[in-house]
Amino acid sequence: MKISPARRIKGKVRLPGDKSISHRAVLVAALANGESHVQNFSTSQDCASTLACLRELGVSIERKGNDVCVAVNGSLRAPAKSLDCGNSGSTMRMLAGILAGQDFAATLTGDNSLQSRPMKRIIEPLEMMGARVVSQQGRPPLRIEGHRPLEPITYELPVASAQVKTCLLLAGLFANGRTEIRETLGITRDHTERMLQWFGAPIEIVQTREKRSSTCAVVGPVGLAAHGVRVPGDFSSATFFIAAAALLPGSELEIEAVGLNPTRTQFLATLRSLGAKIEITATREDCNEPVGTVRIQGTDSPGEMQDGSAITIEGQVAARLIDELPLLAVVGTQTPGGLVIRDARELRLKETDRIAATVKNLRAMGAQVEEYEDGLAIARRARLQGARLDSYGDHRIAMAFSVAALLAEGDSEIFGSECVAISFPEFFDCLESVVER
Ligand code: S3P
Repeated sequence: MKISPARRIKGKVRLPGDKSISHRAVLVAALANGESHVQNFSTSQDCASTLACLRELGVSIERKGNDVCVAVNGSLRAPAKSLDCGNSGSTMRMLAGILAGQDFAATLTGDNSLQSRPMKRIIEPLEMMGARVVSQQGRPPLRIEGHRPLEPITYELPVASAQVKTCLLLAGLFANGRTEIRETLGITRDHTERMLQWFGAPIEIVQTREKRSSTCAVVGPVGLAAHGVRVPGDFSSATFFIAAAALLPGSELEIEAVGLNPTRTQFLATLRSLGAKIEITATREDCNEPVGTVRIQGTDSPGEMQDGSAITIEGQVAARLIDELPLLAVVGTQTPGGLVIRDARELRLKETDRIAATVKNLRAMGAQVEEYEDGLAIARRARLQGARLDSYGDHRIAMAFSVAALLAEGDSEIFGSECVAISFPEFFDCLESVVER
């Protein structure tokens, strides 16, 4: 994909359904007796992988455009072949929790990127609950031999991961007793807790007062009844538009009906601390998730509220920004004091090594970047130069560097840009609809 610099961003966009919430909507619907209708289901390839796996498990799925009808009559059935999760770590880790509680065995596999991702984080607790998981030294394919009922456990997450939390909450639905999950390294997105509550499951949530740790629990076995879900626009997809509009002077952009779950929106707070003009209106709850409109105005001098020193993203804030860190690094090249990211080792374990990919692409554009094992540092504001960039097959890298290309001097080319379809197939069309040159 060739991308020319932009003058500003102007207009209104409405984004496809949130990927994280869509996965959860159909996974939970697949456990609920009856017919559940999911509106504004994500158009991502990742969520299509979840639907394909559920079909293989005997769930009836009818998809008309962005609406999906999930019908379940009784229980899941043993699949005739391996379940292909494609590129989707969420599909594999969340489905593993459900499979652990079945009375059959199933194998989860995926593409080359997914086959290299760490699964010990779910294997260990699922085995504590009584399932057996055969892996390739902690990596996929995973053969899951379910056990019914599972043993409830109390478990402190060793990594801040919503996928692991979800895996265990879903397994907890099939346990006899109380499964409790503690998050002490950072409170991750809570869409599963909200979705399960929406479907009528009694989920307990206790947060410490200063919100540095949280515990959620489910007492199984839990029977769920079918329910309708409307999925809000994807906040993570919105961040690319928000950053571009905030950084291009004269921009005015409105994003309607986007998910504003506070466990996802740290990016707004961070951009505001850099002086971005962001307004939120029309907030409401829809299907147990906060939704609203985000309005962004471009600033002439991003970082004007900074005192010239670098801002540092670390600790729990880094965990809350995990999907936005490559984009934030791009933003960091436009702030006077630069930007430091630490405590983000998890980024190396995503669809690609996102620290290495970000550093290489930023250097190709002329930014001065130092790479750390757990992050990176951008020394100071850089005039980005158009360059040949690589997506490394990672959707968020492709989209973050599309934003960088809009800010650059001269044209850029992004190789492997088609991978944006993993989360947001309409990304380039949607971007072009609001870019002014
Ligand atoms: C997700 C959780 C995060 C995130 C991923 C989606 C989810 O992964 O990076 O894009 O929907 O639960 P981890 O749980 O591995 O941090």
